[in-house]
Amino acid sequence: MSDNAQIKVNDNGPYLVKGNVEMVDAEGNVFETKKAFSLCRCGHSSNKPFCDGTHKKIDFESEPRAE
Ligand code: FES
Repeated sequence: MSDNAQIKVNDNGPYLVKGNVEMVDAEGNVFETKKAFSLCRCGHSSNKPFCDGTHKKIDFESEPRAE
């Protein structure tokens, strides 16, 4: 495994971001994050852009695969 950042698309869930990543808002303000964090992919989190687990309650389904 390299030191590169990685974004994993979890089946039926969030994007899992790992590595040395700085996430900023539209104005360039930096979000406080940990070494690994999850970003909402279902659009229903109350804590956007982060996942709050709501995808499980709504039975979000998406299992994309890289070609
Ligand atoms: S992906 Fe988890 S709340 Fe949207």
